[in-house]
Amino acid sequence: MSFIRSEDQTIKDFGDQWLRYTDNEGYYGSIELFSDILSPILTPDDIRGCRVAEIGSGVGRIVNMLLQAGVKHVIAVGPSQAFGALSRNIQESQKVTFLNVTGDQLPPYGNLDFVFSIGVLHHIKNPLPVVEAAFRALRPGGHFLVWLYGKEGNGLYLALIRPLRVLTKHLPHYMLASLVEIIYWPLVLYIKFCHRLPLPLRGYMLSVLEKMSPEKRRLIIYDQLNPAYAKYYTRFEAEKLFSDGNFENIRIHHRHGYSWTVIGTKPLT
Ligand SMILES: C[S@@+](CC[C@H](N)C(=O)[O-])C[C@H]1O[C@@H](n2cnc3c(N)ncnc32)[C@H](O)[C@@H]1O
Repeated sequence: MSFIRSEDQTIKDFGDQWLRYTDNEGYYGSIELFSDILSPILTPDDIRGCRVAEIGSGVGRIVNMLLQAGVKHVIAVGPSQAFGALSRNIQESQKVTFLNVTGDQLPPYGNLDFVFSIGVLHHIKNPLPVVEAAFRALRPGGHFLVWLYGKEGNGLYLALIRPLRVLTKHLPHYMLASLVEIIYWPLVLYIKFCHRLPLPLRGYMLSVLEKMSPEKRRLIIYDQLNPAYAKYYTRFEAEKLFSDGNFENIRIHHRHGYSWTVIGTKPLT
């Protein structure tokens, strides 16, 4: 019997996902969404001309956002078997170094202005080695910005998704895609109700999900149900990850009341 570690299985699950969902069209891949992810901590203008890395690049959605924001150079770290789709999707590939490795293997450049990791660390069982690699890659005074699933503000959602994921993370693609189709239409109705009622996740539904194309909403449902490992962070756990990684000046934002945007700075000395 073969034994696959949950980290390897998660990377494989994402690789399979990205080989099926290869593009980043519309609002899903837009600079407007990037502003929303960074806000109120940074704006895209803050990273113009910077040397940056992104850990867990999927099929290049965030790398292209970074390029649209005007960064000088991006190190794109993608460990999965969809690495080819990642490099094919990049619009200005002469400004990108592609590394087909896990985040803990980001080289210790020591000269990057920013390292980003958007929607990734919550899929890694032991993320501290990745945080430490980001620390080593930054220049003194450089910043690490992460977006994580949150626990606070997600009570009802977690009560539904956790039992469902016990099953769905094992489903083959065609069954998972059928389940996504079943969930999709009640979700559309839920978004409509959010216009009138103060329902859970209302901020996210109206500010983000409603602006996505039908295909990208389906991808987002799939992305919630597919990976082997997903953790929902408390504020304390999110901040601790950064302090354990020796970052200082740690700031945290409860994005749309359901997730965390966290930034920390590498000390100058
Ligand atoms: C939800 S996707 C986010 C992709 C991209 N950052 C975005 O926002 O479009 C999570 C990504 O984390 C990557 N990942 C999982 N484990 C990883 C690890 N140990 N090191 C680096 N990336 C990892 C997966 O391959 C997957 O592409």
